[in-house]
Amino acid sequence: MSALDDLSKQKAYQLFESGDVYKIEAGTIKGLCDTHKYLFDGLYDFAGKLRDKNISKGNFRFASVLYLKESLDKIEKMPDKTFKQIIEKYVELNIAHPFMEGNGRSGRIWLDLLLKKNLGLCIDWRKVKKADYLQSMERSPVNDLEIFTLLKSALTDNIYQREVFIEGIDQSYYYER
Ligand SMILES: Nc1ncnc2c1ncn2[C@@H]1O[C@H](COP(=O)(O)OP(=O)(O)O)[C@@H](O)[C@H]1O
Ligand SMILES: [Mg+2]
Repeated sequence: MSALDDLSKQKAYQLFESGDVYKIEAGTIKGLCDTHKYLFDGLYDFAGKLRDKNISKGNFRFASVLYLKESLDKIEKMPDKTFKQIIEKYVELNIAHPFMEGNGRSGRIWLDLLLKKNLGLCIDWRKVKKADYLQSMERSPVNDLEIFTLLKSALTDNIYQREVFIEGIDQSYYYER
């Protein structure tokens, strides 16, 4: 892992250990930006800031910067009462890809906060293999069934258990290496 990623990971531990994570608004774009800022402050000059360049991964082009703000406003208003709705919202957030870097790591914390608030559940990322996760996310703009099934099988109600969030962070940072 790069030195920068390692520093960010320490900030991620701190976010949970300090309880600061529970001051972050669940499911909103502000909450996502605050999380991104927390993880990457002092490491990226764009910490907490929306991107102003178009980006892609593999063959997929994320939302054009011309419509990014508009698309995030729409995503924020999407329903998020059921697990299915929350996954649909998460998939749209990934398609928007608001930041130059760090969308995966901040987005998974955002997803867990929303699941905790609305369902009293979160993902046990230790149960989600890296290759399966990345493959399902690559597929998700076309079809969200794979990521839905994968994450559903990893749901837990142990939302305050230390191992779940600490090892969840380890796993989340491992996905992005
Ligand atoms: N080809 C793809 N199409 C759509 N989404 C993808 C693709 N490849 C990766 N992703 C998503 O993008 C995330 C990585 O985005 P990135 O901004 O690099 O975040 P981080 O810096 O935290 O790794 C992955 O976790 C995955 O959810
Ligand atoms: Mg990355």
